Amino acid sequence: MSYEQLRSYLGGPFAEVEGWCIQHLWLAIEPLADAIKANGDPGPIGEIGVFHGKFFIGLVHTMGASEGNTAIDVFDMQEFNLDGAGKGNQEIFGANLEKCGIPRSAVDMRAADSMGLTADDASELRKRTGGGFSLFSVDGCHTVEHTMNDLGFALEVTRRDGIIFVDDYYNANWPGVQEGVAKLYHNQAPRFVPLVYTSNKLFLCNLSFHERYIEAIRAHLKAHHPEARYRDHRRYGYRCLSLFPERGAPSLSAV
Ligand SMILES: C[S@@+](CC[C@H](N)C(=O)[O-])C[C@H]1O[C@@H](n2cnc3c(N)ncnc32)[C@H](O)[C@@H]1O
Repeated sequence: MSYEQLRSYLGGPFAEVEGWCIQHLWLAIEPLADAIKANGDPGPIGEIGVFHGKFFIGLVHTMGASEGNTAIDVFDMQEFNLDGAGKGNQEIFGANLEKCGIPRSAVDMRAADSMGLTADDASELRKRTGGGFSLFSVDGCHTVEHTMNDLGFALEVTRRDGIIFVDDYYNANWPGVQEGVAKLYHNQAPRFVPLVYTSNKLFLCNLSFHERYIEAIRAHLKAHHPEARYRDHRRYGYRCLSLFPERGAPSLSAV
C-alpha cells in the first residue's frame, strides 16, 4: 500500500509539531493499516486528547479518509483537564492540520470533556463514520476513571477490524492509565484485547482479528525491520507483542 503522505509527514513537519509520540510507532501501525485496508473501505480515524495533532495527523495520513476524522479535546475548557496532561489548543491544532496537508473539511473538531460523552454521541459517530473508526487513540486525561471512560467510548466507536491505542500505558508519571486498563480486563472481558505494546502505547484489537494481526506485524518486521526486537508474551491472558524498535536504525520515513 502507498504511504506517500505519511512518509512526507514523518520525514518533514512531524518534527515541528509539538506533542508526544515517536515515528517508530508506525513499525506496528503500518501492517495493521494494510490489513484494515485489505478488508475494504478503511474509514476515518478518531482521537480523544489531540493536543496539537502530532499523532492525529499521522493517523489521518495513514488511513487517508477525506472526511469524518474526529478530534475530541477539552481545548479551551481546561477546567475539565483534571490532571493537566498537556493543554490542547484548537487554533494550533487547526493550523497544524493545514500545514501538514489535511483540509479542515476532513476533520470534525469537537471541544468536549470526554467524561460527558454519551451513548447517543457514540451512536451518532458510528453512523457518521459508516460503522465506526478504523483507528482510535485514547490520549486525554490520564486518571483511572478517564482511562476507563474513554476506553469504554473507544470500544463503542471503533469498527470490528479497527485498532484502539492507549497512550502512556507504562509511563510512571501517569499510573492511572495502567490501573484503568487493568481494572477493565480484571472485571470484564471486552471484545478488544491487547495486541502489541510499543513506544509508550498499548494497541488493542478485536479478538476475532487478534491472531492474524499478530502474524501480520511479525511478518512485516521480519521483511522490513529485521533490526526491531520484540517479545511475544501474554497480557491479561492474551498473546501480546512487546516491540522495541532500534532507535538508531532507519525509521519508517527512511525505508
Ligand atoms: C497528552 S495530551 C495529548 C497528546 C497528543 N495525542 C499528541 O499526539 O501529542 C492530552 C490532551 O488531552 C486533553 N484532555 C485532557 N482532559 C480531557 C478531557 N477530560 N476530555 C477531553 N480531552 C482532554 C488535553 O487538552 C490535551 O490536549
